[in-house]
Amino acid sequence: MMILVTGATGNTGSALVSRLAQAGQQVRALVRDPAGVTLPPGVQPVTGDLNRPDSLADALIGVRGVFLLPGYADMPGLLARMREAGVRRVVLLTSGSAALADMSNAVSRYMTLSERAVREADVPWTFLRPRAFMSNALRWLPQLRAGDLVRVPFAGVAAAAIDPTDIAATAALALTSDGHEGRIYELTGPDSLLPADQIAVLAKVLGRDLRCEGLTDEEARAQMEATMPAEYVDAFFRFYADGTLDESQVLPTVREVTGHPPRTFEQWAEVHADAFR
Ligand SMILES: NC(=O)c1ccc[n+]([C@@H]2O[C@H](COP(=O)([O-])OP(=O)(O)OC[C@H]3O[C@@H](n4cnc5c(N)ncnc54)[C@H](OP(=O)(O)O)[C@@H]3O)[C@@H](O)[C@H]2O)c1
Repeated sequence: MMILVTGATGNTGSALVSRLAQAGQQVRALVRDPAGVTLPPGVQPVTGDLNRPDSLADALIGVRGVFLLPGYADMPGLLARMREAGVRRVVLLTSGSAALADMSNAVSRYMTLSERAVREADVPWTFLRPRAFMSNALRWLPQLRAGDLVRVPFAGVAAAAIDPTDIAATAALALTSDGHEGRIYELTGPDSLLPADQIAVLAKVLGRDLRCEGLTDEEARAQMEATMPAEYVDAFFRFYADGTLDESQVLPTVREVTGHPPRTFEQWAEVHADAFR
């Protein structure tokens, strides 16, 4: 069965491509620009843009399973192309904010609308709702290169962050085995950690004397607006400053679905230590 992985150069998609290839599955990796993209042996790159459903025509030929990212311009259009191409399984990545169905919050809205488009497409589906990714710690790289002080937004908010490798492991099973149709998997890591706890783990793994300090709301907003649209900044302030989204609860889903405990932040940091050096 040919599987198309979208976001194949990203944290989750790249882990999924590797896992499926190692398991001997036929995998096609969707990329916007194949220049400089390295894929595991045997994985076919295909070019396409999720904001333009028509651009996926070639990528979808013969595909039966799709790992899909959320939030693109025409999700119903994407799903229509998949159904027409004969896709029989869609594993959609969203987040815990899909459950809020808060249409006044830009992030919750696009997660909710993405799930809705898949539900209405008449293609068997599985939804993955991971909490914050451990790989978000890579956002601290510029500060870690400059010194030992890491200043973070929402310093008082704990999250049961998840290693994207565990999302990929769950996605691989949902794409290649039975029993996952119509299931919604709320995915967490094994521990609920504050940013300062994660930075303490990084300090231990890297052998550095790192310190964590909270940004004021004004500083956090300015920093976030440099990298994302204002409506998304507002959305994250609603989640984490107003407390509309609680990502702190540790759930047993990864272990239940994959048979393995989710990876710890320390394991994630050890695997990615070179990126921080
Ligand atoms: N970070 C979190 O805490 C978190 C939590 C819950 C859910 N999520 C969701 O998880 C998703 C995946 O995150 P990630 O960290 O695995 O990915 P990532 O490392 O942020 O990479 C994003 C991927 O999406 C691809 N992409 C972006 N725009 C595209 C387009 N128009 N057409 C086709 N591909 C496109 C990129 O491909 P290119 O190589 O072409 O750029 C890249 O492979 C996020 O988009 C978010 O919606 C994230």
